[in-house]
Amino acid sequence: MTTLKNDTLLRALLKQPVDYTPVWLMRQAGRYLAEYNATRARAGDFLALCKNPGFATEVTMQPLARFPLDAAILFSDILTIPDAMGLGLYFAHGEGPMFERPLRDEKEIRALKVPDPGKELRYVMDAVSEIRKALDNRVPLIGFSGSPFTLACYMVEGRGGTEFREIKTMLYQRPELLHHILDVNAKAVTAYLNAQIESGAQIVMIFDTWGGALSHGAYQEFSLRYMQQIVAGLKRDHEGMRIPKIVFTKGGGLWLELIADIGCDAVGLDWTIDIGEARRRVGDKVALQGNLDPSVLFASPEVITAEVEKILLSYGAGSGHVFNLGHGISQFTPPENAAALVEAVHTLSRKFHLE
Ligand code: CP3
Repeated sequence: MTTLKNDTLLRALLKQPVDYTPVWLMRQAGRYLAEYNATRARAGDFLALCKNPGFATEVTMQPLARFPLDAAILFSDILTIPDAMGLGLYFAHGEGPMFERPLRDEKEIRALKVPDPGKELRYVMDAVSEIRKALDNRVPLIGFSGSPFTLACYMVEGRGGTEFREIKTMLYQRPELLHHILDVNAKAVTAYLNAQIESGAQIVMIFDTWGGALSHGAYQEFSLRYMQQIVAGLKRDHEGMRIPKIVFTKGGGLWLELIADIGCDAVGLDWTIDIGEARRRVGDKVALQGNLDPSVLFASPEVITAEVEKILLSYGAGSGHVFNLGHGISQFTPPENAAALVEAVHTLSRKFHLE
Protein backbone atom coordinates (compact mmCIF):
# COMPACT_ATOMS: atom_id res chain seq x y z
CA MET A 1 0.00 0.00 0.00
CA THR A 2 1.40 3.39 -1.06
CA THR A 3 0.83 6.51 1.00
CA LEU A 4 0.42 9.61 -1.09
CA LYS A 5 1.41 12.97 0.36
CA ASN A 6 -1.55 14.48 -1.47
CA ASP A 7 -4.38 12.02 -2.16
CA THR A 8 -7.10 14.68 -2.66
CA LEU A 9 -7.70 13.68 -6.29
CA LEU A 10 -8.06 9.97 -5.48
CA ARG A 11 -10.49 10.81 -2.69
CA ALA A 12 -12.60 13.13 -4.88
CA LEU A 13 -12.80 10.49 -7.63
CA LEU A 14 -14.12 7.99 -5.09
CA LYS A 15 -16.45 10.64 -3.58
CA GLN A 16 -14.73 10.55 -0.20
CA PRO A 17 -14.49 13.77 1.86
CA VAL A 18 -11.78 16.28 0.88
CA ASP A 19 -10.62 19.65 2.26
CA TYR A 20 -10.73 21.38 -1.14
CA THR A 21 -11.58 20.56 -4.76
CA PRO A 22 -8.57 19.00 -6.52
CA VAL A 23 -7.49 20.36 -9.89
CA TRP A 24 -5.38 19.26 -12.84
CA LEU A 25 -5.45 20.39 -16.47
CA MET A 26 -5.83 18.33 -19.59
CA ARG A 27 -2.60 18.77 -21.59
CA GLN A 28 -0.98 20.43 -18.59
CA ALA A 29 2.44 19.64 -20.05
CA GLY A 30 2.72 21.30 -23.42
CA ARG A 31 3.57 24.15 -25.72
CA TYR A 32 2.21 26.96 -23.50
CA LEU A 33 5.25 26.29 -21.23
CA ALA A 34 8.63 27.62 -22.43
CA GLU A 35 10.44 24.80 -20.61
CA TYR A 36 8.40 22.24 -22.58
CA ASN A 37 9.42 23.83 -25.87
CA ALA A 38 13.05 23.79 -24.73
CA THR A 39 12.93 20.07 -23.85
CA ARG A 40 11.16 19.29 -27.11
CA ALA A 41 13.87 21.10 -29.06
CA ARG A 42 16.53 19.03 -27.25
CA ALA A 43 14.62 15.80 -27.97
CA GLY A 44 14.14 16.67 -31.65
CA ASP A 45 10.36 16.46 -31.97
CA PHE A 46 7.17 15.51 -30.16
CA LEU A 47 7.36 11.77 -30.90
CA ALA A 48 10.96 11.63 -29.72
CA LEU A 49 9.78 13.17 -26.44
CA CYS A 50 7.10 10.49 -26.05
CA LYS A 51 9.44 7.63 -26.93
CA ASN A 52 12.24 8.59 -24.53
CA PRO A 53 11.23 7.87 -20.90
CA GLY A 54 13.77 10.38 -19.54
CA PHE A 55 12.35 13.23 -21.62
CA ALA A 56 8.76 12.11 -20.98
CA THR A 57 9.46 12.23 -17.24
CA GLU A 58 11.05 15.64 -17.49
CA VAL A 59 8.06 17.22 -19.27
CA THR A 60 5.51 15.43 -17.07
CA MET A 61 7.12 17.08 -14.03
CA GLN A 62 7.35 20.60 -15.54
CA PRO A 63 3.80 21.83 -14.79
CA LEU A 64 4.09 20.45 -11.22
CA ALA A 65 7.18 22.54 -10.64
CA ARG A 66 5.20 25.64 -11.59
CA PHE A 67 1.74 25.03 -10.13
CA PRO A 68 0.46 23.14 -7.03
CA LEU A 69 -1.52 20.69 -9.21
CA ASP A 70 -3.20 17.70 -7.57
CA ALA A 71 -2.09 15.18 -10.21
CA ALA A 72 0.52 14.38 -12.78
CA ILE A 73 -0.54 12.92 -16.13
CA LEU A 74 1.73 10.64 -18.10
CA PHE A 75 3.27 12.53 -20.99
CA SER A 76 2.45 10.51 -24.07
CA ASP A 77 -0.22 10.45 -26.76
CA ILE A 78 -3.32 8.42 -27.54
CA LEU A 79 -1.84 7.53 -30.94
CA THR A 80 0.91 5.31 -29.47
CA ILE A 81 -1.42 2.31 -29.97
CA PRO A 82 -2.04 2.70 -33.72
CA ASP A 83 1.65 3.53 -34.08
CA ALA A 84 2.50 0.23 -32.36
CA MET A 85 0.06 -1.50 -34.73
CA GLY A 86 2.34 -0.43 -37.58
CA LEU A 87 0.33 2.42 -39.14
CA GLY A 88 3.33 4.78 -39.20
CA LEU A 89 2.49 7.80 -37.04
CA TYR A 90 4.15 11.11 -37.84
CA PHE A 91 3.50 14.76 -37.17
CA ALA A 92 3.77 17.02 -40.19
CA HIS A 93 4.73 20.53 -39.18
CA GLY A 94 1.63 22.47 -38.14
CA GLU A 95 -0.68 19.69 -39.38
CA GLY A 96 -1.26 17.54 -36.32
CA PRO A 97 -1.01 13.74 -36.39
CA MET A 98 -0.91 11.75 -39.64
CA PHE A 99 -0.54 8.06 -40.53
CA GLU A 100 1.53 6.78 -43.44
CA ARG A 101 -0.71 3.74 -43.83
CA PRO A 102 -4.35 4.54 -42.95
CA LEU A 103 -6.64 1.54 -42.55
CA ARG A 104 -8.96 1.25 -45.53
CA ASP A 105 -8.33 -2.14 -47.04
CA GLU A 106 -10.35 -5.09 -45.71
CA LYS A 107 -7.33 -7.41 -45.77
CA GLU A 108 -5.30 -4.99 -43.68
CA ILE A 109 -8.20 -4.51 -41.30
CA ARG A 110 -8.55 -8.27 -40.79
CA ALA A 111 -4.79 -8.52 -40.17
CA LEU A 112 -4.80 -5.86 -37.42
CA LYS A 113 -3.13 -7.13 -34.23
CA VAL A 114 -3.25 -6.15 -30.57
CA PRO A 115 0.21 -4.75 -29.73
CA ASP A 116 2.04 -6.22 -26.74
CA PRO A 117 2.35 -3.46 -24.11
CA GLY A 118 5.56 -5.08 -22.84
CA LYS A 119 7.17 -4.96 -26.30
CA GLU A 120 6.04 -2.35 -28.85
CA LEU A 121 4.80 -0.09 -26.05
CA ARG A 122 7.56 -0.81 -23.55
CA TYR A 123 8.72 2.82 -23.71
CA VAL A 124 5.36 3.97 -22.28
CA MET A 125 5.60 1.54 -19.36
CA ASP A 126 9.18 2.66 -18.72
CA ALA A 127 8.01 6.28 -18.67
CA VAL A 128 5.26 5.42 -16.17
CA SER A 129 7.74 3.78 -13.76
CA GLU A 130 10.27 6.58 -14.16
CA ILE A 131 7.62 9.26 -13.54
CA ARG A 132 6.42 7.43 -10.42
CA LYS A 133 9.98 7.56 -9.07
CA ALA A 134 10.33 11.26 -9.87
CA LEU A 135 6.98 11.99 -8.21
CA ASP A 136 8.03 10.32 -4.97
CA ASN A 137 4.34 9.98 -3.99
CA ARG A 138 3.74 13.71 -4.08
CA VAL A 139 0.50 13.40 -6.10
CA PRO A 140 -1.07 10.50 -8.01
CA LEU A 141 -0.11 9.68 -11.60
CA ILE A 142 -2.86 9.47 -14.22
CA GLY A 143 -2.38 7.02 -17.10
CA PHE A 144 -4.55 7.25 -20.22
CA SER A 145 -5.59 5.94 -23.58
CA GLY A 146 -7.85 6.98 -26.44
CA SER A 147 -11.25 5.30 -26.80
CA PRO A 148 -11.54 2.59 -29.47
CA PHE A 149 -13.71 4.88 -31.62
CA THR A 150 -11.46 7.93 -31.30
CA LEU A 151 -8.42 5.82 -32.20
CA ALA A 152 -10.33 4.37 -35.15
CA CYS A 153 -11.08 7.90 -36.41
CA TYR A 154 -7.36 8.61 -36.78
CA MET A 155 -6.59 5.09 -38.07
CA VAL A 156 -9.21 5.18 -40.82
CA GLU A 157 -9.05 8.87 -41.74
CA GLY A 158 -5.24 8.76 -41.57
CA ARG A 159 -5.12 12.22 -40.00
CA GLY A 160 -6.94 14.61 -37.71
CA GLY A 161 -9.06 17.58 -38.70
CA THR A 162 -11.30 15.73 -41.17
CA GLU A 163 -15.08 15.66 -41.30
CA PHE A 164 -15.07 11.88 -40.67
CA ARG A 165 -16.07 11.01 -44.22
CA GLU A 166 -14.05 7.77 -44.41
CA ILE A 167 -14.96 6.40 -40.99
CA LYS A 168 -18.63 7.32 -41.24
CA THR A 169 -18.88 5.78 -44.69
CA MET A 170 -17.44 2.61 -43.18
CA LEU A 171 -19.80 2.88 -40.20
CA TYR A 172 -22.89 2.95 -42.41
CA GLN A 173 -21.70 0.89 -45.37
CA ARG A 174 -19.51 -1.78 -43.72
CA PRO A 175 -20.41 -1.71 -39.99
CA GLU A 176 -18.93 -5.19 -39.44
CA LEU A 177 -15.53 -3.93 -40.60
CA LEU A 178 -15.61 -1.00 -38.21
CA HIS A 179 -16.76 -3.31 -35.41
CA HIS A 180 -13.75 -5.50 -36.12
CA ILE A 181 -11.38 -2.52 -35.76
CA LEU A 182 -13.15 -1.40 -32.58
CA ASP A 183 -12.97 -4.87 -31.10
CA VAL A 184 -9.20 -5.06 -31.70
CA ASN A 185 -8.80 -1.52 -30.34
CA ALA A 186 -10.79 -2.34 -27.19
CA LYS A 187 -8.55 -5.35 -26.52
CA ALA A 188 -5.46 -3.24 -27.18
CA VAL A 189 -6.62 -0.43 -24.87
CA THR A 190 -7.52 -2.87 -22.07
CA ALA A 191 -4.09 -4.52 -22.20
CA TYR A 192 -2.36 -1.13 -22.50
CA LEU A 193 -4.15 0.44 -19.53
CA ASN A 194 -3.71 -2.65 -17.36
CA ALA A 195 0.01 -2.56 -18.16
CA GLN A 196 0.12 1.14 -17.21
CA ILE A 197 -1.58 0.27 -13.90
CA GLU A 198 0.96 -2.47 -13.26
CA SER A 199 3.78 -0.05 -14.07
CA GLY A 200 2.44 2.49 -11.56
CA ALA A 201 -0.48 4.52 -12.99
CA GLN A 202 -2.82 5.23 -10.05
CA ILE A 203 -5.81 6.52 -12.05
CA VAL A 204 -6.71 5.85 -15.68
CA MET A 205 -8.63 8.02 -18.11
CA ILE A 206 -10.17 7.17 -21.49
CA PHE A 207 -10.25 10.10 -23.95
CA ASP A 208 -13.18 9.80 -26.34
CA THR A 209 -12.50 13.01 -28.18
CA TRP A 210 -14.65 12.18 -31.21
CA GLY A 211 -17.54 10.14 -29.72
CA GLY A 212 -19.58 13.35 -29.78
CA ALA A 213 -19.45 13.35 -33.59
CA LEU A 214 -21.69 10.26 -33.69
CA SER A 215 -25.46 10.18 -34.04
CA HIS A 216 -27.64 9.03 -31.17
CA GLY A 217 -27.67 5.26 -31.40
CA ALA A 218 -24.35 5.13 -33.26
CA TYR A 219 -22.67 6.55 -30.15
CA GLN A 220 -23.98 3.69 -28.03
CA GLU A 221 -23.13 1.05 -30.62
CA PHE A 222 -19.72 2.26 -31.85
CA SER A 223 -18.21 4.12 -28.92
CA LEU A 224 -19.85 3.63 -25.53
CA ARG A 225 -20.19 -0.14 -25.78
CA TYR A 226 -16.45 -0.57 -26.34
CA MET A 227 -15.55 1.74 -23.46
CA GLN A 228 -17.83 -0.34 -21.24
CA GLN A 229 -15.99 -3.48 -22.39
CA ILE A 230 -12.66 -1.83 -21.47
CA VAL A 231 -13.79 -0.64 -18.03
CA ALA A 232 -15.03 -4.16 -17.27
CA GLY A 233 -11.61 -5.56 -18.19
CA LEU A 234 -9.50 -3.17 -16.12
CA LYS A 235 -7.88 -4.08 -12.82
CA ARG A 236 -9.99 -2.85 -9.91
CA ASP A 237 -7.04 -2.36 -7.55
CA HIS A 238 -3.30 -2.49 -7.59
CA GLU A 239 -1.06 -2.91 -4.54
CA GLY A 240 -3.99 -2.42 -2.18
CA MET A 241 -5.20 0.82 -3.81
CA ARG A 242 -8.40 1.30 -5.81
CA ILE A 243 -7.68 2.50 -9.34
CA PRO A 244 -10.34 5.07 -10.33
CA LYS A 245 -11.41 5.17 -13.98
CA ILE A 246 -12.42 8.39 -15.74
CA VAL A 247 -14.33 8.39 -19.03
CA PHE A 248 -14.47 11.58 -21.11
CA THR A 249 -16.58 11.88 -24.25
CA LYS A 250 -16.21 15.36 -25.67
CA GLY A 251 -19.70 16.46 -26.69
CA GLY A 252 -21.17 13.62 -24.62
CA GLY A 253 -23.51 15.73 -22.45
CA LEU A 254 -26.61 14.24 -24.06
CA TRP A 255 -25.55 10.75 -23.01
CA LEU A 256 -24.43 11.51 -19.47
CA GLU A 257 -26.66 8.99 -17.70
CA LEU A 258 -25.56 6.26 -20.11
CA ILE A 259 -21.87 7.05 -19.60
CA ALA A 260 -22.32 7.12 -15.83
CA ASP A 261 -23.71 3.60 -16.09
CA ILE A 262 -20.75 1.80 -17.68
CA GLY A 263 -18.89 1.13 -14.44
CA CYS A 264 -16.48 4.06 -14.41
CA ASP A 265 -15.84 6.11 -11.27
CA ALA A 266 -15.91 9.54 -12.89
CA VAL A 267 -17.20 11.22 -16.03
CA GLY A 268 -15.35 14.07 -17.72
CA LEU A 269 -17.46 17.00 -18.96
CA ASP A 270 -16.73 19.51 -21.69
CA TRP A 271 -17.80 23.13 -21.16
CA THR A 272 -21.16 22.92 -22.95
CA ILE A 273 -23.03 21.50 -19.94
CA ASP A 274 -23.86 23.00 -16.55
CA ILE A 275 -22.03 20.89 -13.97
CA GLY A 276 -24.78 21.29 -11.36
CA GLU A 277 -27.34 19.92 -13.81
CA ALA A 278 -24.91 17.12 -14.70
CA ARG A 279 -24.61 16.28 -10.99
CA ARG A 280 -28.39 16.07 -10.61
CA ARG A 281 -28.59 13.80 -13.65
CA VAL A 282 -25.94 11.29 -12.54
CA GLY A 283 -26.88 11.36 -8.85
CA ASP A 284 -24.48 9.46 -6.63
CA LYS A 285 -23.22 7.15 -9.34
CA VAL A 286 -20.03 8.89 -10.38
CA ALA A 287 -17.75 11.81 -9.66
CA LEU A 288 -17.57 14.60 -12.26
CA GLN A 289 -14.50 16.17 -13.81
CA GLY A 290 -14.51 19.55 -15.50
CA ASN A 291 -15.53 21.86 -16.98
CA LEU A 292 -14.08 25.32 -17.55
CA ASP A 293 -13.95 26.52 -21.15
CA PRO A 294 -10.18 26.58 -21.91
CA SER A 295 -10.68 29.98 -23.59
CA VAL A 296 -11.44 31.52 -20.18
CA LEU A 297 -7.67 31.32 -19.66
CA PHE A 298 -7.18 34.04 -22.29
CA ALA A 299 -8.96 36.52 -20.00
CA SER A 300 -7.65 38.28 -16.87
CA PRO A 301 -7.11 36.58 -13.48
CA GLU A 302 -10.24 38.39 -12.19
CA VAL A 303 -12.39 36.87 -14.92
CA ILE A 304 -10.78 33.45 -14.38
CA THR A 305 -11.56 33.62 -10.65
CA ALA A 306 -15.19 34.59 -11.33
CA GLU A 307 -15.64 31.74 -13.85
CA VAL A 308 -14.09 29.23 -11.42
CA GLU A 309 -16.47 30.38 -8.69
CA LYS A 310 -19.47 29.87 -11.01
CA ILE A 311 -18.51 26.24 -11.60
CA LEU A 312 -17.80 25.56 -7.91
CA LEU A 313 -21.16 27.11 -6.95
CA SER A 314 -23.00 25.17 -9.60
CA TYR A 315 -21.50 21.85 -8.42
CA GLY A 316 -22.28 22.83 -4.83
CA ALA A 317 -21.16 21.36 -1.52
CA GLY A 318 -19.62 17.95 -1.03
CA SER A 319 -17.03 15.71 -2.63
CA GLY A 320 -17.07 14.17 -6.11
CA HIS A 321 -15.82 17.12 -8.15
CA VAL A 322 -12.45 17.24 -9.85
CA PHE A 323 -11.80 20.65 -11.33
CA ASN A 324 -10.43 20.64 -14.88
CA LEU A 325 -10.84 22.33 -18.24
CA GLY A 326 -13.51 21.09 -20.63
CA HIS A 327 -10.75 20.15 -23.11
CA GLY A 328 -6.97 20.56 -23.42
CA ILE A 329 -5.24 23.81 -22.50
CA SER A 330 -4.41 25.97 -25.52
CA GLN A 331 -0.80 26.54 -26.54
CA PHE A 332 -1.55 30.29 -26.42
CA THR A 333 -2.41 30.30 -22.68
CA PRO A 334 -0.27 32.63 -20.56
CA PRO A 335 1.17 30.34 -17.84
CA GLU A 336 0.37 32.89 -15.13
CA ASN A 337 -3.31 32.46 -16.00
CA ALA A 338 -3.04 28.72 -15.38
CA ALA A 339 -1.51 29.64 -12.00
CA ALA A 340 -4.47 31.94 -11.28
CA LEU A 341 -6.87 29.11 -12.10
CA VAL A 342 -5.21 26.61 -9.74
CA GLU A 343 -5.04 29.19 -6.97
CA ALA A 344 -8.71 30.16 -7.40
CA VAL A 345 -9.86 26.53 -7.27
CA HIS A 346 -7.81 25.78 -4.16
CA THR A 347 -8.88 28.84 -2.18
CA LEU A 348 -12.51 29.27 -3.28
CA SER A 349 -13.42 25.59 -2.96
CA ARG A 350 -12.66 25.20 0.76
CA LYS A 351 -16.05 26.57 1.80
CA PHE A 352 -17.76 23.78 -0.16
CA HIS A 353 -16.02 21.10 1.93
CA LEU A 354 -16.61 22.19 5.52
CA GLU A 355 -18.50 19.10 6.72
O1 CP3 B 1 -2.48 16.06 -20.62
C1 CP3 B 1 -1.26 15.89 -20.71
O2 CP3 B 1 -0.42 16.74 -20.31
C2 CP3 B 1 -0.73 14.57 -21.26
C3 CP3 B 1 -0.37 14.60 -22.63
C4 CP3 B 1 -1.33 14.33 -23.76
C5 CP3 B 1 -0.96 14.65 -25.08
N1 CP3 B 1 -1.91 14.15 -25.93
C6 CP3 B 1 0.27 15.35 -25.45
C7 CP3 B 1 0.34 16.04 -26.74
C8 CP3 B 1 -2.59 13.70 -23.82
C9 CP3 B 1 -3.46 13.22 -22.69
C10 CP3 B 1 -2.92 13.58 -25.20
C11 CP3 B 1 -4.14 12.94 -25.69
C12 CP3 B 1 -4.54 13.13 -27.08
N2 CP3 B 1 -3.76 13.12 -28.20
C13 CP3 B 1 -5.88 13.23 -27.50
C14 CP3 B 1 -7.09 13.15 -26.62
C15 CP3 B 1 -7.29 14.41 -25.87
C16 CP3 B 1 -7.73 15.55 -26.71
O3 CP3 B 1 -6.96 16.53 -26.77
O4 CP3 B 1 -8.81 15.48 -27.27
C17 CP3 B 1 -5.87 13.37 -28.90
C18 CP3 B 1 -7.08 13.55 -29.80
C19 CP3 B 1 -4.52 13.27 -29.33
C20 CP3 B 1 -4.00 13.28 -30.72
C21 CP3 B 1 -3.12 14.43 -30.93
N3 CP3 B 1 -1.84 14.53 -30.44
C22 CP3 B 1 -3.43 15.62 -31.63
C23 CP3 B 1 -4.75 15.94 -32.30
C24 CP3 B 1 -2.28 16.43 -31.56
C25 CP3 B 1 -2.05 17.76 -32.21
C26 CP3 B 1 -2.76 18.78 -31.40
C27 CP3 B 1 -1.90 19.99 -31.19
O5 CP3 B 1 -2.11 20.64 -30.16
O6 CP3 B 1 -1.04 20.27 -32.04
C28 CP3 B 1 -1.32 15.75 -30.77
C29 CP3 B 1 0.00 16.25 -30.39
C30 CP3 B 1 0.24 16.46 -28.93
N4 CP3 B 1 -0.09 15.56 -27.97
C31 CP3 B 1 0.88 17.57 -28.33
C32 CP3 B 1 0.96 17.30 -26.97
C33 CP3 B 1 1.61 18.14 -25.91
C34 CP3 B 1 1.45 18.77 -29.08
C35 CP3 B 1 2.67 18.27 -29.77
C36 CP3 B 1 3.78 19.29 -29.88
O7 CP3 B 1 4.56 19.45 -28.92
O8 CP3 B 1 3.90 19.86 -30.98
